[in-house]
Amino acid sequence: MILAKKSRKSLAHIVALTNQKGGVAKTTTCVNLAASLSAARRKVLVVDLDAQANATMSSGIEPNDVSPNTYDVLVGKKDAQQAIIRQTKALYDLLPSSRDVTAAEVFLQSKKDKHFYLKRALQPISHLYDYIFIDCPPALNIMTVNAMTAADGLIVPVQCEYLALRGLADLRNTVDGIRNTVNPKLEIEGLVRTMFDKRNRLAREVSNQLLEVFSSKVYNVIIPRNVRLAEAPSYGLPIIIYDAKSSGSKTYLALAGEFIRRHEGK
Ligand SMILES: Nc1ncnc2c1ncn2[C@@H]1O[C@H](COP(=O)(O)OP(=O)(O)OP(=O)(O)O)[C@@H](O)[C@H]1O
Ligand SMILES: [Mg+2]
Repeated sequence: MILAKKSRKSLAHIVALTNQKGGVAKTTTCVNLAASLSAARRKVLVVDLDAQANATMSSGIEPNDVSPNTYDVLVGKKDAQQAIIRQTKALYDLLPSSRDVTAAEVFLQSKKDKHFYLKRALQPISHLYDYIFIDCPPALNIMTVNAMTAADGLIVPVQCEYLALRGLADLRNTVDGIRNTVNPKLEIEGLVRTMFDKRNRLAREVSNQLLEVFSSKVYNVIIPRNVRLAEAPSYGLPIIIYDAKSSGSKTYLALAGEFIRRHEGK
């Protein structure tokens, strides 16, 4: 087991994995980037903010068995410290989710400062981590706005197919709205091309359009379609442990390398 120690003194850099489009590999990118960074000895926390609890399951934790969870933290019943599961099978620490998170949405709806609950909950633990990754649900709902309020930046996984860019225009408008209100420092820091099939002409075209619009924000590393990546969550393991030799493992490790170079200049 790799024991990552926090390598820097500052507060964690907080990244939300977001795209309101469903099934574009937000969770897959969240857990595998987090695991790859943990393997590179960065201290990482994954926050599962989705009531589907896919990031929790992908980390080897059964959501129905875990309490406290993100819900308890958001409604103020527990501190994040008390709910975090340390050193999961996937190497990183995890703030787990469950179906209860839907009830947290209802709780927050009536609050005046409803967008700030996650930010406040993460503040006391931020110094313990190098990076915190928040896995968002496929919607621009109150949970996602909480994530965008708490985050320094967004990583947007994109499946290069028809209408992908239109969804990104909506996301950009939302980010502008958040920046003008609750979080002036928020930026889209990276876009990751996922489930990519280079033999597919449309995928190549959309990829080129993405580069034209977002230029250097698009990660050079491209995640290919790889069945081993789809299998790994059912074993509760990240791809670097489930099948280190697979193309999915190699590309997520390379993505972590590119992420580290962008953030740490190494
Ligand atoms: N590179 C890949 N190759 C093959 N399958 C993949 C790849 N990336 C993700 N998948 C699979 O595609 C499906 C959707 O991925 P994932 O759950 O990560 O998307 P998501 O954006 O988090 O979805 P949701 O919007 O429901 O939260 C999953 O079954 C996942 O295992
Ligand atoms: Mg997901």
